[in-house]
Order: sequence, then structure tokens, then C-alpha cells
Amino acid sequence: MGLNTDWRIEIHRGIDNEQASGLSNLIHSLSPPNRQRRSLAPEYYLWKLSQNPSGRGVVALAVNSKKKIVASTTGTYKTVWSNQQQRKACEFGDSYTDPNYQKQGIMTILVQKATEAVLQDGVDIIYTTPNNQSVKGYEARCSFKTKSNFPLFFWGLPISPIFLLSNKYPLFRVFSMFDKLYQKVLHLVGLLYKEVEIKPLYFDEAYDRLNKKMADIYPFLISRGASYLKFRYGINPDFASYGLIESRDDIGELEAALIYKKCSQDGMKVLFVADMFGVKRGALSNVWAQAIKIGRDQGFHLVAYWGAKNWKMAKIFAPLLPIPVSIKHLLFYTSKSGMKIISEKNDILFSIGDTDNV
Ligand SMILES: CC(C)(COP(=O)(O)OP(=O)(O)OC[C@H]1O[C@@H](n2cnc3c(N)ncnc32)[C@H](O)[C@@H]1OP(=O)(O)O)[C@@H](O)C(=O)NCCC(=O)NCCS
Repeated sequence: MGLNTDWRIEIHRGIDNEQASGLSNLIHSLSPPNRQRRSLAPEYYLWKLSQNPSGRGVVALAVNSKKKIVASTTGTYKTVWSNQQQRKACEFGDSYTDPNYQKQGIMTILVQKATEAVLQDGVDIIYTTPNNQSVKGYEARCSFKTKSNFPLFFWGLPISPIFLLSNKYPLFRVFSMFDKLYQKVLHLVGLLYKEVEIKPLYFDEAYDRLNKKMADIYPFLISRGASYLKFRYGINPDFASYGLIESRDDIGELEAALIYKKCSQDGMKVLFVADMFGVKRGALSNVWAQAIKIGRDQGFHLVAYWGAKNWKMAKIFAPLLPIPVSIKHLLFYTSKSGMKIISEKNDILFSIGDTDNV
């Protein structure tokens, strides 16, 4: 197969309808049929890159002679707290190149040019969570480095383990009674926890106060303030799939919150924990247990979470421990600020909700 070399680079701030459709088509065509996500729809790109209150995103595109988008990298601005200072940061993602244009250095140029644009905007904290295919390019050629002292994992707590196994190995179907028994055990364990509330997707000022407390604890934190959460989840094109669980104290002060998304893939219903945060371990355990109750009561097959793998998390989950399924990479651009976060020894807070991946 000959290489197509009729491409040129464009750097934009924000995205228009036509570009959003072109980007969506490119990424759809490269995603396997069973991984087609709603977040690949054009309205998602318009929402995160043009309607973001933190600023219009950087959109780096390679366009061919027929004006078709053949490669992309995007940068979405965020508000973060780094050592208690409020700063602006940028998340890179959507690094895709059409197979007819791969291996000519296009992704490398797009990431480098997008980095230049972000630095010109006065932002030097840039992070990304690439998959195995693009992690090498970010590290080897684009001056990004993995925060290796902070392993992130994709975790799964099966609600119907036999159903999940029989999806892959049909012979397991004969054991399907086991799922009911296992769910009884989950129910009994759930009784150990305080019932917490499932709320409409609304974020009041208590989120700003909790965010402040977390910014004092974590040396790096992507905003969980009310206005950001409203943008991220409340006016997300997929807002109807999200739900909120809260734990508040006797005077109504927020102690912990969990945001979930109802997803399905290959006939498997997954309750995805997009974010879980708070300052009290007991309250965090309660919202986690409540998510599992919802998973069980509403017929989900799996509760999934994507976040840190450390003792703090193990204590929150126990005894409802999910299984670490696969590792995720969190990389920062190696600016002075980025290097500081990479070498920071204390735990930071990072969930899939801090990325564009859910
Ligand atoms: C990952 C991906 C974006 C890389 O895009 P790309 O434009 O081919 O990237 P580059 O050309 O910059 O680098 C790719 C390789 O080509 C090599 N290369 C770059 N210029 C070259 C040239 N002129 N001649 C030969 N090889 C070259 C690079 O060294 C690199 O090699 P490596 O894979 O051994 O590290 C692309 O493969 C892709 O879209 N994959 C599927 C989608 C995906 O998973 N995306 C990641 C989502 S986060």
C-alpha cells in the first residue's frame, strides 16, 4: 500500500460543525465496531472544544487535498489545583491517523504543534492518557513522560460473573444459578453500609467547598468545583446516561460524591464509575457500596472504575473489592510544572472523568 502524502497541518482554536463531523468520521472509522462510543459523535467535539467555559480547545488536524481530515489531536482546557494554586491545564486526546497516512510522522507533528499552541496560551500543564498504540509516540517523540509512581488501573467488580464468563465461554451457562447466589452475598455485604442518596445531576456550592478541602489534601487535582461539574456532566451531550450518588453529613455538608454512567457493550450492561471523590474514607466507601447496590438492583453485569491502585483505594473498596483488569498510562508534558507533578510522591486524585474517555 503506497503512502498518501497529500496532507497539510491546520491548527485551530475551537471547532466548527464541519470539522466536528470530519473528526467524528475519522475516529469512528478507526474504532472497532464493538467500541463505538457516543463520545465519538460530532456534538461531543463541539461541546468539549467550543463550548468549554475554560476556553476553546486546540484542534490540530492533518487535512488532505480533498479537504478530508486524515489525522487529529485535540487539547481540552481544564481548571486544576497544583499545590493549592489554581491553574489552567490541558488534556490531549483524539490522536488518530488514517491508516493510509500513518508512519510519516503526522501524529508526532500534530502533538508537537498542539503543544506549541497550548504553551502560547500560557498553559504548561498538559496531560494525556493514551492507549498502547500512541503512548510510545507521546514519550519518544513529543516530550511527554509517564507518571510511573502513580499506577492507574481499569477495575471491574462483576455483578453477574457467570454471565460475563459465558459471553466468552458459553459452557459456563450451566452455572448461571451461581449469579443469583453471588448477588445475595453482595446484598448482605451491602447491608453493612450506610444508605446514601441518589440525586439528580445537580451540583451546588457544597461542591466548591469540598473541592477546596481536596485541593488542600492533593498536590494535583482537576477541578471538581460546581461550575466545572455542571459543564462536564450536567450539560454533556450524554447527560441522560449519568447519575449522582452523594454522602452528606447531618448538616448537609458534602462528604463524598460518585458520578456514574450507564453504558452497554456487546449485550453487557456496565455501570461505569466516572468519578468518586471526597475527604472521608467511610463516606467514600458508602457511595461505592451504593453504586454496587444500583448495579445489582438495576440488572447491570459489571461495575467498572478507572483510577489509582494504592492502599487508599483498597481501603475504600474493601470488602467490595474490584479486580484490576488493565493498566492505564497517565503522562504529562515535561515542562517544569509537568515534571513537578510527575515526581510528586504524594498521591494525586485522578479518575476517568478527568479525561474525555467516558
Ligand atoms: C497511534 C497513531 C495515532 C500514530 O499515528 P502516526 O501518524 O502513524 O504516527 P507517527 O507517524 O508520528 O509515528 C508512528 C511511527 O511511524 C514512524 N515514522 C514517523 N515518520 C516516519 C517516516 N518518515 N518514515 C518511516 N517511519 C516513520 C515513527 O517513528 C513511529 O514508529 P513507532 O511506531 O515504532 O514508534 C495511529 O497509528 C493510529 O491512529 N492508530 C489507531 C488509533 C489509535 O489507537 N489512536 C490512539 C488513541 S489515544
